[in-house]
Amino acid sequence: MQIADDLKSLEDRYQLQTYGKFPFFIDKGAGCYVYDEEGNKYLDFYGAHAVASTGHCHPHVVKAIQKQAAELIFYSNVSYNSARARAVKKLLEMAGEPYYQAFLVNSGSEANENALKLARAITGRKEIISFSGSFHGRSYGSLSSTGIPKYANYLNTPVPMHRILPAEAVAEAVSEETAAVLVEPIQSMGGMKEIPLDCLSQIQKECQQHGALLIFDEIQTGVARTGSFLYSGLVNIHPEMVTLAKGIASGFPAGALLVTKELAKNVKNGDLGSTFGGGPLACATMEATLEVIDKEQLIENASLMGDYLKENLSSIDGIEEVRGRGLLLGVKVREPKTAKELQTGLLKQRILAGSSMDPQVLRMMPPLIITRREADLFVEAVKAI
Ligand SMILES: Cc1ncc(COP(=O)(O)O)c(C=O)c1O
Repeated sequence: MQIADDLKSLEDRYQLQTYGKFPFFIDKGAGCYVYDEEGNKYLDFYGAHAVASTGHCHPHVVKAIQKQAAELIFYSNVSYNSARARAVKKLLEMAGEPYYQAFLVNSGSEANENALKLARAITGRKEIISFSGSFHGRSYGSLSSTGIPKYANYLNTPVPMHRILPAEAVAEAVSEETAAVLVEPIQSMGGMKEIPLDCLSQIQKECQQHGALLIFDEIQTGVARTGSFLYSGLVNIHPEMVTLAKGIASGFPAGALLVTKELAKNVKNGDLGSTFGGGPLACATMEATLEVIDKEQLIENASLMGDYLKENLSSIDGIEEVRGRGLLLGVKVREPKTAKELQTGLLKQRILAGSSMDPQVLRMMPPLIITRREADLFVEAVKAI
């Protein structure tokens, strides 16, 4: 394929080389599948980086984008906009109590950055505590909170007053100096490790006692992926702030910071801002995504399919453990095999899955629309390997 080879060399020549890539183009997608330049079909259990919540090019989402693009592509937050009004209403309705208002942004890092900024501004304190093994993004504050050395070490000077501690040391470290504790409740990139619930409850208790704020980074766990609209709702721990992105708009760049009423009272005109955050096209896409999640009962589907995958994968020889919740799952491969070998074997069978920082753990973040058919295809492919 001469044309494809030429285009590949163009991308390699002109894009800064910061990513390892699949060795083919993905220029087309539909539902749970994507297609390469030769028309080969791949089952997407990587979910376009945990983003394709409603699948690729869901007709309701595509229609909403086309309609909004023809009406108004962009106007900033200095004007009211009906797509924005509808999107924030739907988002807050689905998030439920205690979340009261949202600040709309363009990415996960930006959502975390604003959460951290707000925490420091509201408490008047500086210390931010986060967890070893967590990933929070690539901007300065979010990277300074990231507990995976491979990423965090890139900063030779992290933002001051950020402390990264092992999960079991966090609760006891919270003090009158602490502005916030930032938690990725299932550490996805870190190897799909769940922070134990008693640890989360203890941290919340300490935060409440010391006047520190609790922030859940639900950029991967949120928006229905773990079988609840928010993971915090599933585990019944309600932090003051929750950050969302990834699947919130089916792949259109968007994110949100949700805050409680108590917190919202402390935010005033001019405190936060973002030119593109909450743009009409992003909001129309977000609203359509949330409508699909609601109407097609994708919260329930994520939970059912997650349990089905867990059960069927766990019984395969060579799989030590399947961890995570809903459709945010990690398959731990028994040594001496590695997750990389499993990922390569799956790719040969035209199935995409993700790696993690743990060489034994392969990640699955498929679209929330998968059926038993796709789950069975995945399970059979793993068995064959
Ligand atoms: C848990 C978590 N937080 C934050 C981020 C950063 O999001 P973004 O890449 O949209 O800035 C990611 C991205 O992978 C993530 O998985």
